[in-house]
Amino acid sequence: MYRTHNCGELKILDANKQVTLSGWVQTNRNLGGMTFIDLRDRYGITQLVFNLDTNEELCNNARKLGREYVVKITGTVAERSNKNKKIPTGEIEIIVSELDILNKSETPPFTIEDETDGGEELRMKYRYLDLRRNPLRKALEIRHKMVSEVRRYLDEQSFFDIETPVLIKSTPEGARDFIVPSRMNAGSFYALPQSPQVFKQLLMVAGYDKYFQIVKCFRDEDLRADRQPEFTQIDCEMSFVEQDDILNTFEGLAKHLFKELKGVEIEGDFIQMPYAEAMESYGNDKPDLRFDMKINDISETVKGNNFKVFDEAEYIGGICATNCASDYSRKKLDKLIKFVQKPQIGAKGLVYVKCNADGTYKSSVDKFYSQDDLKQWAEKLDAKPNDLILVISGDKVQSLKALSELRLEMGRTLNLMDNNKFAPLWIVDFPLLEWDEETERYHAMHHPFTSPKKEDFELLETSPEKVRANAYDLVINGVEIGGGSIRIHDSKLQATMFKLLGFTKEEAQEQFGFLMNAFKYGAPPHGGVAFGLDRWVALFNNSESIKEVIAFPKNNSGRDVMIDSPSSVDTAQLDELKLKLV
Ligand code: AMO
Repeated sequence: MYRTHNCGELKILDANKQVTLSGWVQTNRNLGGMTFIDLRDRYGITQLVFNLDTNEELCNNARKLGREYVVKITGTVAERSNKNKKIPTGEIEIIVSELDILNKSETPPFTIEDETDGGEELRMKYRYLDLRRNPLRKALEIRHKMVSEVRRYLDEQSFFDIETPVLIKSTPEGARDFIVPSRMNAGSFYALPQSPQVFKQLLMVAGYDKYFQIVKCFRDEDLRADRQPEFTQIDCEMSFVEQDDILNTFEGLAKHLFKELKGVEIEGDFIQMPYAEAMESYGNDKPDLRFDMKINDISETVKGNNFKVFDEAEYIGGICATNCASDYSRKKLDKLIKFVQKPQIGAKGLVYVKCNADGTYKSSVDKFYSQDDLKQWAEKLDAKPNDLILVISGDKVQSLKALSELRLEMGRTLNLMDNNKFAPLWIVDFPLLEWDEETERYHAMHHPFTSPKKEDFELLETSPEKVRANAYDLVINGVEIGGGSIRIHDSKLQATMFKLLGFTKEEAQEQFGFLMNAFKYGAPPHGGVAFGLDRWVALFNNSESIKEVIAFPKNNSGRDVMIDSPSSVDTAQLDELKLKLV
C-alpha cells in the first residue's frame, strides 16, 4: 500500500513505470511553474515533479509541504532533463499524480543534510533526526554489515553464539562497576558486566569449546573519543588452544572483515611485536605502523659533550622525520617545542637537528656539538639530507611517552596517516603484572585469569614484575581494537595468582570462589579474546569518535540527553529498594 519501490532504486530502465513511494520531504523547491521535491528514505533520494499547468491543485498542495513531512506519492517515472550524476537515482524523476500527507512535521531544529548546521549537543538531543542524516545512516550500515560478517565467519568455524547474564557481580576488568540494587535482596547489589569474562570461562568448563557473543559491556570510567560507558564487544573464547591457535583464528576473522567491508586483502601473517619492543621503539603499546619513524635510544652517541641536559639524563631518544627539514622554519620548530611541553605530554624541551641538503647540519645545540658530532647522530638515526632529527631526554618512561606523541604529531603533519591504509599487528608478551605506586601492590595487567608464560613460571616467586603473560592485543592504525589471553585453568596456579595480587584466601574465595570451584571439575586449557566492535566500526568508517557509530550514545559526561538519563527516581522506588540518598 505504501510503496512499490524505495527512494534509492529507480533507474532510467524504470522509465514510464507507475510507482508509489513513501518517505520524508528533504527539500521543496518552487521554480515558477514547476515544484521539485526531494523525497528521502533510508535507501536514497528521488526527485518528485509537480507541474502547475497540468495539475494546479496538486502542485499547490505540494508547495505547502514542509521539511520532514511524511508523504506517499504515486506517479510515473520519467527521464530527467537535468541529470544529477552524484546520486544513483539522478537520471530520473517522478511525475506525481497523487499525493498523500501521512504526517506533518515541525521544522527540525537543524538541517538534515550531510553537512548540518546543528551543534553536537543539539543533535544528541534529537538523535532520531540526526540518524536520518546520511553519514550516520552509513555508519550504522557498516556496523550492521560488520556484525553480520562476524556471525557468518564464526558460525562457519563452528562457534556457538551464547548469551550470558547482565545482572551479575563484579568482574575484574579494572574499571569501576555500574551497580544495580536488588529489591528482593534488600541491601544487595548486582554489578553490570565489564565483560562476560568469567561466564565465557565457565562455558569452556561446560564443554562449549568455541563461544562467541556480540555483547554489551559496562564500565564506569572517564569517557574519551574511544570510550563509552556501555559499549559492544565481539567476545570469544576457545578450548584446547594455545596462543597461536587464537591468533590464527582471529587473524582469519580480521582478514575476512577487511575483505568484506573494505575490499582490502591483507597478505601474509600479521606482525607479532613483543610489548617491550613496542614500548622501546614506539613509546606505547599500540603503535601506528602506517609509518615508520621509530624511536631510537641515542644516549651513547650524544653523551659526553658537556651538554648537561643530556649528560644527566636517564634516557635520550630520537626520531627522524624524512624529507621535511627544509619545511621546518624556526617558527614551526618553536611550535613543535611548545607541543612537547604541553602538560599532558610533559617533555621539558626538544632538541632538533636539520640535515641540510648540502650535507651540513643545523641544530639547536650547535654550541656543544660539531658538524662531525651531528653527523654521528645522523648515522645513528639513518638520517639523509633534508631529514629532521628530533630528540627528547629525561626520565625514560616520560621521554618515551613524549616521543610517542611527537611521532604521531609528525605523522599527522606530514600526512603519513592515510585512512585508506591499514597496518594491523598483534602486541604479544605483555607483562603479567603492573606495580601500582598508590596502593603499593601488583595489578594484573590484563586480568587475574591470564596465564603466565611457562618459561617465566620460576620468576613468579623471585621477580614477579619480569613475568610475561600469554596475553595479546590486536592493534590497527594505532587503535587498540581487541585484547585477550590464554587463561589459567589450574586452580592451584590461580590461587598463587590471587595471592600475588594481594587477595587473601577469603577474599579470593568470596569474589571468585565459583570459578575456582568450577576448575575442580575438569577445566580444559582455554583462552580467548574480545574486540571492541565500536572501535572497529569507527576505524572502518573513518570516524573520529565511537559516538559516530553508535545509534544512541552517551555524551561526554555519560548522559543520554535525549531521554534525559541518568535521572532521579521517586522516593517510593527508593523505599522499595531500602535505599536512602545522603
Ligand atoms: P579488554 O578490557 O581489553 O578485554 O576489552 C576488549 C576491547 O574492548 C574495547 N573496549 C572499549 N570500547 C569502548 N569503550 C570502552 N569503555 C571500552 N573498554 C574496552 C577495546 C578493548 O580492546 N575480557 C577481556 C577480553 C579477554 O580477555 O578475552 C576484556 O574485556 O577495543
